[in-house]
Amino acid sequence: MRLDKFLSETRTLSRTETAKAVKQGIITVNGIIAKKPNSPVNEEKDVVCVSGRVIEYNKYRYIMLNKPEGYVSATDDKSAPFVTQLLSGELQKFELFPVGRLDKYTVGLMILTDDGQLAHRLLSPKHHAEKVYYFKCEKSLERIPELESGVHIEGGYLTKPCRVKRLSEFEGEITLTEGKYHQIKQMLYAVGNKITYLERIRFADIPLDPCLERGEWRFLTEKEVENLRKI
Ligand code: URA
Repeated sequence: MRLDKFLSETRTLSRTETAKAVKQGIITVNGIIAKKPNSPVNEEKDVVCVSGRVIEYNKYRYIMLNKPEGYVSATDDKSAPFVTQLLSGELQKFELFPVGRLDKYTVGLMILTDDGQLAHRLLSPKHHAEKVYYFKCEKSLERIPELESGVHIEGGYLTKPCRVKRLSEFEGEITLTEGKYHQIKQMLYAVGNKITYLERIRFADIPLDPCLERGEWRFLTEKEVENLRKI
């Protein structure tokens, strides 16, 4: 890979900035000052430094998106806007996909990545990654012990134990470790209620970043990615 590509993919310097930095002599590859922005770099082995700071090559990308209403959790769709359309153009080449699904009208925290292995682990029922949702419901929020111990939804499936916190008569928070189709909507329906608003506010240890407006995204920090890997 070219040095300028390496530095732009690691979000260290743009191609123009790399050209300038090369002229300034502040980039080294294995301790030797880089002479050209297009010098070859082996991202697996070479040690690239900018002003003495080692630049790690991230093989994969990890993104937090604040999903707006009306978008489907997909990488393509003919009839509705889909979440990967919200990412900037330069990310389109990476084949990022959403980790799990949120319904079209659910908003909030969605993780996108091109790391298939990690996504698979996070979704596997074995790993019990917690997902926390804030919701509003049409009728008074009752029958919490039933919701928590498990209710029967589509196909006779008994939902796994979960936690429900009542925030007011018509709103609450629910923490799930699984993700069946329309699960929360179905669970509330099973106790005679109806969801009117649903927002995912946490995925594992990662809360939805309050700085992100609906439709905005940012890269996960190294610490956040590390936390996901620990699951
Ligand atoms: N449960 C639902 O009903 N919808 C979602 O989008 C997520 C969980």
